[in-house]
Amino acid sequence: MERLTPLLEASGLTLRFGGVTALDDVGFEVGGGELFAIIGPNGAGKTSIFNCLNGVYRPQRGTITLEGTSLVGRAPAAIAAMGVARTFQNPGLFSRLTVVENLMLGRHHLMRTGFFSGMAWWGRAKREEIRHRAAVEDIVDLLELEPYRWSPAGLLPYGVAKRAELGRALAMEPKLLLLDEPVAGMNLEETEDTARYLLEVRAELGIAMILVEHDMSLVMDVADRVLALDFGKAIATGKPSEVQHDPLVVEAYLGGAA
Ligand SMILES: Nc1ncnc2c1ncn2[C@@H]1O[C@H](COP(=O)(O)OP(=O)(O)OP(=O)(O)O)[C@@H](O)[C@H]1O
Ligand SMILES: [Mg+2]
Repeated sequence: MERLTPLLEASGLTLRFGGVTALDDVGFEVGGGELFAIIGPNGAGKTSIFNCLNGVYRPQRGTITLEGTSLVGRAPAAIAAMGVARTFQNPGLFSRLTVVENLMLGRHHLMRTGFFSGMAWWGRAKREEIRHRAAVEDIVDLLELEPYRWSPAGLLPYGVAKRAELGRALAMEPKLLLLDEPVAGMNLEETEDTARYLLEVRAELGIAMILVEHDMSLVMDVADRVLALDFGKAIATGKPSEVQHDPLVVEAYLGGAA
């Protein structure tokens, strides 16, 4: 049987900064709706992979394709418009805008009606606005953000701000969501809530996700497959339970702790 094209395919990724090789011939695939995790000690190259995927860095070698279309050399905004959304370690919300306003901004690239056409086609603009509001309200429901709807993002408790940022990324209706340490700085309860939200997002919306995370228990709980990196090299790929016990992975983590 012919093999299906994966949603995302990266191969031979090599990224150097002067004498530092951040990524050395790294390859992996992510299927539609898959929850894929990237782990590894500090400086292993995890964030560098995200920066290559979303166009912030251009790898010196290698290919990246989304549904068969090359992403290498495209600008971050173009890659976002193709359906790759990202959340940051520190929530990147507009602090003076409300949660709902921040989520509406996430939909900006989906809005066809600009200001002038909006004047000319008031009816259409109104219908579009209603449609976007409804989509945002669905996300507010899914992530249980109702109590914070009209709060300025700058006043949200940390865990809620991270959740609202996930909401903003979801509002873009991405095909692939890149999550950089979504539970960093969270307490146990917030971490468990986040695990539940990520599983709900996958079940309800079917969005593929790549998760970079230091919290191993979260990775074990939610990931379908894991890629382990060390010094820019892929040292293991597979099911979480397999990768966790891989001798190279164990050594990489012990080496880092020593
Ligand atoms: N802009 C840059 N200029 C120079 N070196 C860089 C740059 N970005 C990353 N590096 C180097 O590339 C390597 C990989 O860094 P990267 O940030 O991808 O690691 P990481 O796995 O995300 O680490 P952490 O767990 O600490 O976030 C490191 O040696 C880092 O110092
Ligand atoms: Mg990093």
